[in-house]
Amino acid sequence: MQTILITGAAGIVGKALRPLLRKHYALRLFDRLPITDLAENESAFCGDLTRTGDILEAVDGVDGVLHLACAYGIDIRFESTLNTNYNATLQLLEAAQKSGVKRFIFASSHHVLGQYRTDAAELFDELPVAPDSYYALSKVFGEASCAVFAQRYDMAICAIRIGNADPQVSDARRVRLWVSGRDLAQLVRIGMEHSQIRYEILYGVSDSPKPFFSNTRARELGYSPMDNAKDFIAPDYLDYDAMCPQTSGRDFLGGAYAVSSLASCLESA
Ligand SMILES: NC(=O)c1ccc[n+]([C@@H]2O[C@H](COP(=O)([O-])OP(=O)(O)OC[C@H]3O[C@@H](n4cnc5c(N)ncnc54)[C@H](O)[C@@H]3O)[C@@H](O)[C@H]2O)c1
Repeated sequence: MQTILITGAAGIVGKALRPLLRKHYALRLFDRLPITDLAENESAFCGDLTRTGDILEAVDGVDGVLHLACAYGIDIRFESTLNTNYNATLQLLEAAQKSGVKRFIFASSHHVLGQYRTDAAELFDELPVAPDSYYALSKVFGEASCAVFAQRYDMAICAIRIGNADPQVSDARRVRLWVSGRDLAQLVRIGMEHSQIRYEILYGVSDSPKPFFSNTRARELGYSPMDNAKDFIAPDYLDYDAMCPQTSGRDFLGGAYAVSSLASCLESA
């Protein structure tokens, strides 16, 4: 059985994926928060990605890496993204490459396209990036860093632009980019195992009535979503008219991120 390191394993996405992935892989769960509810095929490593020693120890002996950990927030400052999203992502890639890891999956985000208006296109898969925040800018950096390592070294890498991974669908924007745990797990397995991968950008979305993404490349690689967002509507779901146009960012792919002001880089942190 192959061993996968999951960074940020204590978070929302990590919690959703663990039960689905541990049937297929031994999971090394890395987070700065302690993880104590370990199941069969799971071990925990409590550490911080901003410490190089922790990264080196975490990747030792694993076959693949699923990199979820990151700093985020609608109005996050650029400086606040530097340690985890820039430096640690590069260090993790380099450490993984040097220790012989052959598969790497980077949790990117639909926010790399978040500044597009929702009426700007039918489908957004192939459009150039339009990051909506310093969080999204760091995801563009992460994707580009993955491309560097995939092109230079013998590593197969996928960036999965995750839509929304909440347990239920909360509004009319998210219904167009929501993903279930089991569909995301399917994409992770494709990233870990498919023989045709060098560097790919895939979309972490389930089916939906009017999707933002066709996810053609993922489907070519065998992705077949099992879930449709319309079947996971939350009881307090907000339809388009119920969303505040000024604060929800309902007319932008990135929602509230796209209408919130960028924190100044000119002022000191
Ligand atoms: N949840 C979503 O809907 C969604 C949507 C798009 C993209 N994503 C991406 O998926 C990934 C996981 O998201 P999530 O919702 O589970 O986030 P989360 O905040 O719930 O979990 C992130 C985890 O990373 C850990 N972490 C952060 N910095 C760390 C560090 N320096 N060292 C060790 N651990 C650290 C945190 O303790 C946390 O447990 C992120 O990269 C996020 O950008 C998530």
